[in-house]
Amino acid sequence: MARRAFTPVEVRTALHVVRVERDERRPSGRFLLIDGRESSHVDLDDPTHLEFGYMRRIADVADELRPRDVVHLGGGACTLARYVAATRRGSAHEVYERDEGVLRVAREHLGLRTHPKLRVRIGDAAAFLPRRADGSADMVVGDAFVGLHVPAALTTPGFTEHVRRVLRAGGIYALNVDDAAPLPVARRHAATLAAAFDHVAAVAPRPLLRGRGGGNVVLLASAAPLPLDALRRRAAGSVDREEVVAGWPTEAGAATLSNQA
Ligand SMILES: C[S@@+](CC[C@H](N)C(=O)[O-])C[C@H]1O[C@@H](n2cnc3c(N)ncnc32)[C@H](O)[C@@H]1O
Repeated sequence: MARRAFTPVEVRTALHVVRVERDERRPSGRFLLIDGRESSHVDLDDPTHLEFGYMRRIADVADELRPRDVVHLGGGACTLARYVAATRRGSAHEVYERDEGVLRVAREHLGLRTHPKLRVRIGDAAAFLPRRADGSADMVVGDAFVGLHVPAALTTPGFTEHVRRVLRAGGIYALNVDDAAPLPVARRHAATLAAAFDHVAAVAPRPLLRGRGGGNVVLLASAAPLPLDALRRRAAGSVDREEVVAGWPTEAGAATLSNQA
């Protein structure tokens, strides 16, 4: 593959300093950094390439669910929306991104092309999602971050109730959180999800689940049973050694987690 021309990008938006960096291992790979943190990665030539383990695991859910309508909380490079749009023809994506400057960088430097089936709305996801109709989505992807944190307004019981309302029967909410052992943040969010949904699970690298280090935990929630066996098969052999944990305990310590069915 020919090496693409690359000019470093640094933009001061109304909210953040946004940078685009070259992926030294992939000529067409680009990292999106927001205030110095890697916030997304996109392969300009291949929308099905997902560099981050947590995005791969959310993509597993989409591959299994085959959603028609997906809502994305947090836009970044819109990598996940582009992945599902590329792999699930005809799927429709509504993305909420609060920083207009991030969207501009994604358009001008990260190859994002919006169209009627991939729309980005600029503003707070906490304001947009409650306006969405009941039963209008098959999947909601929660990946909005300010620094290391999911904005508080997107983790309240009231907001979570709106996610449940917006999902169709069998729909799945995938919420990415950043945490460190013994996972106090993920447990808190899991407890909120468990109050609104009958089925909750978590996907995370094995060391993190065993009480070591930090990283991404993807929480899954649905009114219907989750396709755990299929997700485990997809995660098996993953570079980040991710595991799928069902019935996430909200009080117990990380060491007591087991891979129960
Ligand atoms: C980790 S990036 C999202 C990456 C994205 N999932 C992708 O596939 O490329 C997080 C994004 O969430 C946005 N964000 C933070 N708070 C938000 C909010 N309350 N509503 C909408 N977007 C928000 C940030 O501006 C940032 O672009």
